[in-house]
Amino acid sequence: MDNKVIDESRQGEVIEMTPNNQAGKKLYLESYGCQMNFSDSEVVASILAKEGFSTTRNLEEADVILLNTCSIRENAETRVRNRLTDFKKKKEAYPELVVGILGCMAERLKKSLLEEEKLVDLVAGPDAYRDLPNLLQEVGTGQKAVNVLLSRDETYADISPVRLDQGGINAFVTITRGCDNMCSFCVVPFTRGRERSRDPETIVEECKDLFSKGYREVTLLGQNVDSYRWNITSKGELKDSSKPTTNFAQLMKMVALVSPLLRVRFSTSHPKDMTDDVLEIMAAHENICPYIHLPVQSGNSEVLNRMNRGYSREWYIDRIQSIKRIIPECAISTDIITGFCGETEEEHQDTLSIMDLVAYDFAYMFKYSERPKTLAERRFSDDVPEEVKSRRLNEIIEKQLSHSLKSHQQQLGSLQKVLVEGPSKRSDDFYCGRNGRNSMVVFPKGSAEKGQYVIVRIEDCTSATLRGKIEQYV
Ligand code: SAH
Ligand code: SF4
Ligand code: F3S
Repeated sequence: MDNKVIDESRQGEVIEMTPNNQAGKKLYLESYGCQMNFSDSEVVASILAKEGFSTTRNLEEADVILLNTCSIRENAETRVRNRLTDFKKKKEAYPELVVGILGCMAERLKKSLLEEEKLVDLVAGPDAYRDLPNLLQEVGTGQKAVNVLLSRDETYADISPVRLDQGGINAFVTITRGCDNMCSFCVVPFTRGRERSRDPETIVEECKDLFSKGYREVTLLGQNVDSYRWNITSKGELKDSSKPTTNFAQLMKMVALVSPLLRVRFSTSHPKDMTDDVLEIMAAHENICPYIHLPVQSGNSEVLNRMNRGYSREWYIDRIQSIKRIIPECAISTDIITGFCGETEEEHQDTLSIMDLVAYDFAYMFKYSERPKTLAERRFSDDVPEEVKSRRLNEIIEKQLSHSLKSHQQQLGSLQKVLVEGPSKRSDDFYCGRNGRNSMVVFPKGSAEKGQYVIVRIEDCTSATLRGKIEQYV
């Protein structure tokens, strides 16, 4: 996922004023990394709106620049460091400009960021956003400010995020934070801390509120949505005996019942934890999209074992067979890491063969990037040469492109229910929107409106997009 600016001018909006606030100041927020970071940026905007900040998409008028950063691969961090150098001149011209680092790099690098990157004034980790007003005040007194404390219970459950795409159709709703899985390649447990689930009532309330504001799709977010659990300890005991427990399947049903017009998506499913009851709830609710992102990482059991993923090739294939049995029309996407420590040519072939077996509709594909402090860094050597990683990645990408194209070709001639998201990038005469299977569909506007469902007859395709014409307005 690429860096993407999701700020929005919020001029003219009435903002609650507090004494000593930062009234009239402009915040420029840029997000990198996963959807979770984009969702967190909306929490940050909400916390700072209460202090009198309005957000701007114009860097030139910013008083505070915050970068919400990602550490997942080395190049994600390099991109942010390069971005920081862009700000150097601005800071020279306007010394009061505050530059802050939020998110996973803040957590990974902590104080050293202030020393390494002299122009950074503030560092706040993912669980420290409520402290941002104080940290900004500290910076205002000429000090550098840091809070990278991780929490066991912060879920920002009571904070209603400021949606940065006003008038939007899709919103992210975070349901769990952190991760307890410790996959050996992954930095997330270190940057995001322990896994915790958010109160289901606040999730449902947020979805109802979004629906009433015109949103028609919510994506429930967690590093492993299948381990969502509310009111139950890891030992299976009730936390509050007067209240029911909630697992992910039950939560999804609660959200699906908000309205039949509200589409429900979710990410990410974990192969070791995804149960058939989740699939059955999906099959039973038309508005839960038939699409699952189920990262395989590797098709070889030995590699999966070294990755500490908690499942084997056979287990993963069994999960795929369950999906195909219970939701035959379900689209499946994945993440693949190539060139993990010790990966042999045969092990790589197993990844290619599992791709043929599943025939993924879409995939995110990466070269292994060693991350400091992870289990893999401590236990194994990053010994697959760069050129071998590149060649294997190319083979994987080539295979995926042919599978993506085939998946779209199979939809030619079919009728697809599409949620109109807005004008297509290429032409104002066309709309774009996704079908339940998460394929992007482009079609002439007709008399449809943003946020409406239409039935489109698919006439043409590439590996990335479906094209067609509206046959029916729903
Ligand atoms: N929680 C999700 C993944 C979050 S990170 C899950 O378990 O599936 C998103 C993806 O980044 C991962 O699925 C993995 O494919 C990739 N990734 C994570 N760490 C990586 C690393 N060190 N090098 C390369 N890719 C990595
Ligand atoms: Fe990382 Fe594994 Fe957790 Fe995903 S499940 S965030 S890959 S540790
Ligand atoms: Fe990156 Fe942190 Fe997300 S490392 S992928 S922003 S959880």
